[in-house]
Amino acid sequence: MPETHAQIRRWHLYPTAEDLVAHAAAAIGRIAAEAIARRGDFHFVLAGGSTPIAIYARLRDLDCDWSAWHIYIGDERCVGPEHPERNSRMAEEAWLRHVPIPAGQIHPIRGELGPARAAADYAALLASVPRFDLVTLGLGEDGHTASLFPDHPWGVEADAPATLAVTDSPKPPPERVSLSARALSQAPQVFFYVAGAAKRDAVARWRRGEGIPAGAIRPANGVDIWVDEAAWG
Ligand code: 6PG
Repeated sequence: MPETHAQIRRWHLYPTAEDLVAHAAAAIGRIAAEAIARRGDFHFVLAGGSTPIAIYARLRDLDCDWSAWHIYIGDERCVGPEHPERNSRMAEEAWLRHVPIPAGQIHPIRGELGPARAAADYAALLASVPRFDLVTLGLGEDGHTASLFPDHPWGVEADAPATLAVTDSPKPPPERVSLSARALSQAPQVFFYVAGAAKRDAVARWRRGEGIPAGAIRPANGVDIWVDEAAWG
């Protein structure tokens, strides 16, 4: 569990964001194929924000068994489903509306219910999920990930809930739902996508081992951080 062992970090450096996108999309396809071959389905937690958009767009071209994909999201803003700030809308537009994943296998966080109800609603859903095969995350300039922010609860404890209701996010909008650090750590593979010079300070702090929220994600197999040279510094 997150509080019992140090974070194992593997850094993967790419010259450009375009290189990162190409390799990340290929890795997702490979992990999906392996999971489907082994267990018949693939349970994938999406990252929010803007960095993953190009990766999701690249996934449209995957040659795979879309009927075996199950989609979740690591955090959501408490705005309507069609709001431009909505992570699920971003993923739909970039990728999901272009591939035949069964609608019943795409599980957005119902942020329109408000933080508390949406967090409880999604925790109830997650209770029926057999496992996550891949969790993907972004990194904020302050070191946040999903909607786990500095000086806020991260849910690292062994008995932490699967989801957290956020009402005062420093990154607008203020009301969000986030999977907890404990829930986000429950996967054999956890990828972070980090691109652009704006993330340089957060990456440097992470590399120094400072206590940023991204450092609280501590799966047993460690995390793989996909970073471009602009963010690496
Ligand atoms: C969110 C995201 C958040 C994001 C980082 C990086 O809902 O805001 O989940 O954690 O991943 O803030 O965002 P960018 O990729 O847009 O830089």
